[in-house]
Amino acid sequence: VEFSPDTLALAQRIIKRYPEGRQKSALLPLLHVAQAEFDGWLSPETMDYVASLLNIKPIEVYEVASFYTMYNLKPVGKCLIEVCQTGPCWLRGADDIVEHFEKKLGIKVGETTADGMFTLKTVECLGSCGTAPMLQCGADYYENLTTEKVDTLIEKLRASDNRSTYMKSNMQEL
Ligand code: FES
Repeated sequence: VEFSPDTLALAQRIIKRYPEGRQKSALLPLLHVAQAEFDGWLSPETMDYVASLLNIKPIEVYEVASFYTMYNLKPVGKCLIEVCQTGPCWLRGADDIVEHFEKKLGIKVGETTADGMFTLKTVECLGSCGTAPMLQCGADYYENLTTEKVDTLIEKLRASDNRSTYMKSNMQEL
């Protein structure tokens, strides 16, 4: 496992932002870059590679990666559907939205469709409570959701290459 030359150059620019001896501070952005580079998730080999770039112990990377929910430690589908389930979204029907996704996609929360297209996840507040219920998919927010909007969204996502949008957003200078 290693980054492409362009991604490695980006990783090195990120690492250089931190003072000598403090390169470990680049861990969070490097994990985002790694996740974008390697199909949206962090395998143990990927985390070992990031540890080697920062010259730290692999366990230090695992600790951080397993703490934050935005890092995926299992393979994910091309479209990662993250439905907010915190209070305001819940009060406005987030449960119905999740249930509708489960029914339409034939999977439960935490699972990926057999074709590798969709992974369904619930997450905490995404800071868009005024447009509850809402979800994030890649770099995009989908707001004021209804079951009809979910149907349209599933069709739209099937037809698009959502993963590349997600990758691009994570590959920008963080
Ligand atoms: Fe869902 Fe804040 S509670 S975005």
